[in-house]
Amino acid sequence: MSGCNAWAPLALLIGLCALPAAAQDYVGSNACRTCHIDLYSTFFRNPHYKSIAAGNQAPEKTGCESCHGPASGHVGAGGGKDTIPRAFSKLSPTQVADTCLGCHAQSISRANIRRSEHTLDDVVCTNCHSIHRSPAPKNLLKTEQQRDLCYGCHTTVRAQFSMPFKHRVNEGSVQCTDCHNPHGSFAATWNMGARPRMVEQGVGNEQPCMKCHIDKRGPFVFEHAAVRVEGCETCHSAHGSTNPRLLKRPVVYTVCLECHTGSGNFGRQANGIPRNSTFHNMADPRFQNCTSCHVRIHGSNADSFFFR
Ligand code: HEC
Ligand code: HEC
Ligand code: HEC
Ligand code: HEC
Ligand code: HEC
Ligand code: HEC
Ligand code: HEC
Ligand code: HEC
Ligand code: HEC
Ligand code: HEC
Repeated sequence: MSGCNAWAPLALLIGLCALPAAAQDYVGSNACRTCHIDLYSTFFRNPHYKSIAAGNQAPEKTGCESCHGPASGHVGAGGGKDTIPRAFSKLSPTQVADTCLGCHAQSISRANIRRSEHTLDDVVCTNCHSIHRSPAPKNLLKTEQQRDLCYGCHTTVRAQFSMPFKHRVNEGSVQCTDCHNPHGSFAATWNMGARPRMVEQGVGNEQPCMKCHIDKRGPFVFEHAAVRVEGCETCHSAHGSTNPRLLKRPVVYTVCLECHTGSGNFGRQANGIPRNSTFHNMADPRFQNCTSCHVRIHGSNADSFFFR
């Protein structure tokens, strides 16, 4: 199959192929060997070698030229940075993404990649992936450990995972991508669609936390709106915290009182008498430990006050 080239005159006429000024042909990956022996000799280990191994792909989808473009001009000129159609050192972030998405739009389609925070901030494929020099066993990442890749730009997050209570990302039992999709995500169904933060969505669009904390999944007969509507991060700092249970506040009741105030539903008046006059006496330490009575704080199948 000669693709665009056999039809180049016709295709150019009807604007199908955007060929560079001096029309270039595909010469095949073997032609790169003599001069780029270092890259060529390790390429058989690359997942992109599959297109060469298969032997049945169109030239524009095969080997070196699938990313770098048709190289007859480059080879003819004896090399050079200006003669190769796609030298990544000269591409804009958008051009890089376009090149890779030419094949990967499908495989990373679960992500909203064009509108992700990363893409919008010009953080694209080659900021995180290294095609020729990846030290990682999987996914051609730039660093051996995924977390080091992310920490490289997100230094405050590194500090959060060093707090006394944290998810054990540094110890390797949890990864950033257990909760985030660095390629992007869609507006969340929880949190009323606000601040998606590229938080990955689990099965049925639920919060990624449920993948591991399955006992919090529900649905419960009596849901706690704070959990289901606002989301886990209302009360927990997902990365790390100085407070036990990754809570956002040092004592449990201060978390609760953010919503359950005297003017809210907590201590609401019944027949003119404040309902919390006999219990919920905040001066009594017993009542400060809300979850000693409201134990099923994430939702209950038995009791609307989450007692059991
Ligand atoms: C005759 C030798 C020769 C051949 C054959 C050759 N190249 Fe090159 N290539 C060079 C030289 C020299 C450079 C410039 C290197 C520099 O300036 O650092 C270069 C640069 C490049 C660059 C640009 C690097 C950058 O700056 O981003 C790419 C990509 C490239 N070659 C790919 C290929 C591919 C793909 C093939 C096979 C189709 C190929 N080359 C065949 C000699 C060659
Ligand atoms: C999947 C896309 C892809 C394929 C396939 C590919 N390259 Fe590259 N190449 C890149 C990217 C991206 C860069 C920029 C450096 C980086 O990010 O790793 C690059 C950089 C280069 C460079 C610049 C110098 C350097 O060492 O970084 C040369 C030369 C090169 N590639 C040659 C080749 C040759 C030869 C082949 C085939 C054996 C090939 N490439 C296959 C994507 C690709
Ligand atoms: C901010 C960093 C980052 C950027 C930008 C990024 N990736 Fe990734 N990518 C990753 C990480 C991390 C993984 C590993 C995910 C995992 O372990 O689940 C990955 C996995 C992949 C995979 C393999 C798994 C899959 O989902 O199919 C492909 C293919 C891929 N990326 C392609 C791309 C392409 C194409 C682009 C640009 C359009 C891109 N990536 C941009 C970080 C990034
Ligand atoms: C010509 C099509 C094509 C282009 C262009 C292309 N890829 Fe790929 N890529 C593939 C194929 C095919 C695989 C192998 C998938 C498999 O293992 O089945 C692959 C694998 C990968 C993987 C590894 C997935 C894994 O499971 O380890 C990453 C990461 C990746 N590509 C990133 C990129 C990036 C970044 C670019 C742009 C610089 C790019 N690709 C350009 C076709 C392409
Ligand atoms: C090359 C630098 C770079 C790398 C590497 C990188 N990021 Fe980012 N990230 C950014 C930038 C820039 C933004 C957008 C500005 C901001 O919010 O900080 C961003 C935004 C984010 C956001 C969204 C923040 C928000 O406010 O919505 C998340 C989540 C995120 N990155 C996670 C990751 C993860 C996980 C990794 C590793 C797989 C990673 N990043 C790797 C630069 C990077
Ligand atoms: C246990 C799940 C989880 C893990 C693991 C995780 N994150 Fe997050 N991350 C979240 C949630 C949830 C948010 C949203 C917090 C909010 O909106 O209040 C978030 C927010 C962010 C933000 C936005 C900035 C901010 O603080 O508001 C960045 C950047 C980020 N994470 C990066 C990372 C990186 C890098 C890693 C790995 C080192 C990582 N995350 C691991 C769940 C996680
Ligand atoms: C990949 C699995 C995984 C995901 C996803 C995950 N967690 Fe966790 N989580 C754990 C593990 C494992 C622990 C135990 C930590 C330890 O002891 O090192 C933990 C501990 C916790 C704790 C502290 C429990 C205690 O007894 O101190 C809270 C709170 C928590 N996670 C909330 C969340 C939230 C909120 C999310 C989503 C933003 C989430 N987790 C996502 C695996 C996960
Ligand atoms: C309304 C605030 C609130 C929300 C929202 C919330 N939690 Fe909690 N969570 C708590 C409190 C308070 C504790 C501590 C309970 C205790 O110490 O008795 C806790 C404890 C935990 C624990 C450790 C103890 C246990 O029950 O396993 C995990 C894990 C946890 N939460 C995960 C989650 C996940 C996942 C979500 C989202 C589905 C979530 N939480 C949403 C308040 C909340
Ligand atoms: C983000 C806001 C928010 C936070 C934080 C929060 N709640 Fe709630 N809670 C609600 C909402 C909203 C309802 C539903 C109220 C209704 O149906 O009238 C609710 C319902 C309840 C109910 C059932 C009340 C009823 O009338 O059926 C109890 C008990 C409760 N919360 C206890 C707690 C405790 C204990 C904490 C702290 C661990 C807490 N809540 C933290 C928002 C919150
Ligand atoms: C000693 C046990 C106990 C403790 C501790 C406790 N509660 Fe309650 N809570 C109750 C009882 C009993 C009810 C009343 C149920 C009824 O009306 O039948 C209740 C009802 C509620 C209700 C729903 C009724 C209303 O007043 O709106 C909320 C909300 C609530 N508690 C929140 C909290 C919060 C927040 C804390 C911690 C500051 C807390 N509770 C501590 C026993 C307790």
